[in-house]
Amino acid sequence: MNFSSDTAAPAHPSVLEAMMRANSGPAPSYGADKVTARVRAQLARVFETDDFDFWITPSGTAANALALSCFCPPIHSVICHQEAHIQMDERGAVEFFTGGGRLHLMPGEGAKLDHDLFAEYLLNYDPGFVHATPPAVLSLTNLTECGTAYSADEVARFAKRANLGGLAVHLDGARFGNALAHTGASPAQMSWQAGVDVLTLGLTKTGALSCDVVILFGQAKAKGKELRARAKRAGHMPAKMRFLAAQAEAMLEGGLWLDLSRHANAMAQKLAAVFREDSIELAWDVQGNEVFALLDPHDIDKLQEDGAAFYAEWPGGSSRFVCSWATTEAEIESVRETLKRPMRK
Ligand SMILES: Cc1ncc(COP(=O)(O)O)c(C=O)c1O
Repeated sequence: MNFSSDTAAPAHPSVLEAMMRANSGPAPSYGADKVTARVRAQLARVFETDDFDFWITPSGTAANALALSCFCPPIHSVICHQEAHIQMDERGAVEFFTGGGRLHLMPGEGAKLDHDLFAEYLLNYDPGFVHATPPAVLSLTNLTECGTAYSADEVARFAKRANLGGLAVHLDGARFGNALAHTGASPAQMSWQAGVDVLTLGLTKTGALSCDVVILFGQAKAKGKELRARAKRAGHMPAKMRFLAAQAEAMLEGGLWLDLSRHANAMAQKLAAVFREDSIELAWDVQGNEVFALLDPHDIDKLQEDGAAFYAEWPGGSSRFVCSWATTEAEIESVRETLKRPMRK
């Protein structure tokens, strides 16, 4: 019963097999290899456009910080939700990579930004007021940190308003596949067609070993050279890029990443049903692969006694359970049995 995180899951065998295949003979370095070229062609198919540039990084934090640093000058800010991963869990990487840019935090239910508050802020801030830090980028997260999903229309509405205010739009897609699986949107609809300039497409949590892709769409692709220069300076230009690319290739091949996301989401729905069966309330609607349950201390004790791994005390008072490509029905069944059994004396 391991629900600690999708990052605790093993890498999917197809990813390791692809890395083994890439491990044959010499190949050009720093992304000039054939596997990386094939990933470009795959991304073009998946996102239904040729108008993009991309770079592969080994972590979501690197992808977010590099992406945002291309759009936020040091004397500007990035608007994001107050619970956004870039705010809560990246040790100031965005501020560091932008060389001083700051995060402007905004509230919203279920870790989704409130559109009215966002619009009101853009309407009222004075770009000529030298003492404030003007926003340069809007950063959304989909799936959000509460496991909720923005629809493609919602993303488009935010992007439209951001563009009116002269802001670029970043989407932290550490769990992009889970958001697509829930909403039914296509990768194109949830990204460039909705007005996203730069997407960090997370594949690690979905099932890769270590692979998060920064994708610059449309006019944003003019930032491609800068992105590479920043990646190099930050130590994110791996000489043997082919092994990162091989992971992306395996995940994108035949839609594996979407199949795995669908599986993780389905397991989360089953887990949510087990909690509901036991009259346990959920803090947020389950719209991806994460379940936030309001457990009483006895249930937490029982699950921990039976070896379940999860975050018992998540901020806000719930317990967080994350399903992954590797979550099994047997694990969910074990949760059901544990919740049903009496307390041990
Ligand atoms: C929404 C979100 N963005 C970014 C990241 C960062 O990924 P990494 O831990 O690979 O740096 C995470 C990791 O949990 C995340 O949940």
